[in-house]
Amino acid sequence: MAERQHDRLLGIDTVGLREWRAKDTSYNRYEATPYRALEKLFRRYKFNSNDEVVDFGCGRGRVAFAIHHRFHVPITGIEANDKTFDELLRNKSRYREKARHISAPLRFEFGLAEHYNIRPTENKFYLFNPFSGKIFKQVVENIHNSLRKHPRPAEVILYYPLEEYKTHLRKNSFVLINKLRVPDAVDKYDKFLIYRYKPRRDRVQEKLRTNTKAHTIRQPI
Ligand SMILES: C[S@@+](CC[C@H](N)C(=O)[O-])C[C@H]1O[C@@H](n2cnc3c(N)ncnc32)[C@H](O)[C@@H]1O
Repeated sequence: MAERQHDRLLGIDTVGLREWRAKDTSYNRYEATPYRALEKLFRRYKFNSNDEVVDFGCGRGRVAFAIHHRFHVPITGIEANDKTFDELLRNKSRYREKARHISAPLRFEFGLAEHYNIRPTENKFYLFNPFSGKIFKQVVENIHNSLRKHPRPAEVILYYPLEEYKTHLRKNSFVLINKLRVPDAVDKYDKFLIYRYKPRRDRVQEKLRTNTKAHTIRQPI
């Protein structure tokens, strides 16, 4: 199905690009995650009723509306471009008309992702390459601090993952658990990487458990 047809089903308008006025910005332009990629993600990755999702750099909201519509989970989107944010709010009111039966909260905040105050219940973090590696580092550190303060299982989903992003996740105790290639990928970045938060302490315990198990099995009866 074409992008516009998918949009129409949700009552939104997310097709197109928006460049920043300043050329030398660390903030990337608006461009939505393709629906063919989201379809792949939704086939292989499920959000459940305990999840609370954040889309850092949510643009016109395609990912937020699509996840909310499919999984009925709370979702927050952060967007820093004022024009894009206006379009997002217009989308939200049209989407709400179509999705009156879904009661899960849908929040949008205008502002910088790196300044967003992560709620202690938020546990799934989505990013489609919104900004430079330097800003991403700040965002991941904020997530990490929130997880240390309020320990909980958490995952980061990257679409079109760049090398620098992967490095910062590894440095902040995130471990790659899944890689989903998009059908008819246009290049090697056209995929999702899913990272799970595994603090060092948990990994050591996991290793100890595995070793103990192996040792027990080798014991003569
Ligand atoms: C590539 S688009 C992704 C849009 C959406 N997440 C999706 O996948 O369909 C990146 C978005 O991040 C926004 N952005 C860039 N830097 C940002 C920042 N520091 N804080 C919040 N939003 C930002 C851009 O304006 C743009 O709308």
